[in-house]
Amino acid sequence: MTHTEGKTALVTGASRGIGRAIARRLAADGVWVAVHYGQRKEAAEETVAAIESAGGSAFPVRADLATDGALDTLFVELEAGLAGRPLDILVNNVGVYADPDDPAAMARDDYVAGISEVTPEAFDRIFTVNVRAAFFVTQRALRLMGEGGRIVNISSAVTRIAWPLLPYAMSKGALEMMAPRLANELGSRGITVNTIAPGITDDTQVNSWLHDMPGAVEGVAGMTALRRLGRPADIAAVVSFLVSDEARWVTGQLVDASGGLALAPTPPGM
Ligand SMILES: NC(=O)c1ccc[n+]([C@@H]2O[C@H](COP(=O)([O-])OP(=O)(O)OC[C@H]3O[C@@H](n4cnc5c(N)ncnc54)[C@H](OP(=O)(O)O)[C@@H]3O)[C@@H](O)[C@H]2O)c1
Repeated sequence: MTHTEGKTALVTGASRGIGRAIARRLAADGVWVAVHYGQRKEAAEETVAAIESAGGSAFPVRADLATDGALDTLFVELEAGLAGRPLDILVNNVGVYADPDDPAAMARDDYVAGISEVTPEAFDRIFTVNVRAAFFVTQRALRLMGEGGRIVNISSAVTRIAWPLLPYAMSKGALEMMAPRLANELGSRGITVNTIAPGITDDTQVNSWLHDMPGAVEGVAGMTALRRLGRPADIAAVVSFLVSDEARWVTGQLVDASGGLALAPTPPGM
């Protein structure tokens, strides 16, 4: 029996990528998981099916977090799925790199727009999903959370490395401000709030380009101390620890989970 056996969790953006791995890991730890998704119902159903076939429990909940009114839908579905049980764990995992309302930018993975190319609309939409939604999902989730709850926000190594994702990096900087302040506010309820900052993680839509460009995987792996790309399960393992009773004395912290990305300058020619 694990420390998290029988707990409940909401993992946002759990239909794919890192969120899916977090949902699967928590379910393997015995947690009953609400698998949140935005658009891709089939992908969320695949996550739920993978959890159930491994003997775990999960249910899907939908809400487009770029849209006003999404929170009402999300929490109606969540509360129906929880059927009167409290929410023990919230993982704010959803994050977008480009304007989610610009299909062309999303399709061409145009994440590297310079400052002159970023429109006010794109900037606002990135902040809406990455910051505003995480804030108000947390506000609503706290109404369902009892003593000893756990909140984990997923940020990024881009807050300490000048990767060319300016509005995205600024949004993650804002998100990182949540944990220490909220941890202090919620400590009297025994609730911990922490942030994980992944590095470059494979098996995610944003990094599919790595496999299309000769030498890119090796080049990026060479930027990490551990000499490989991150895997979604690497991040999920850190979430599993932070939500467990073993991490009861850790709160308000930022945990880098990047394999030691950019600990040293990249040598010329890499
Ligand atoms: N991948 C990396 O290398 C990396 C590195 C550092 C940090 N991160 C952070 O890790 C987190 C997960 O990233 P990822 O690369 O695994 O993401 P991903 O593969 O692109 O998956 C995104 C997830 O978020 C959901 N989503 C996107 N926009 C949404 C919206 N407007 N409303 C509701 N749901 C929405 C998607 O749902 P649908 O399937 O329905 O679209 C999907 O479940 C993000 O916060 C990201 O910033 C990732």
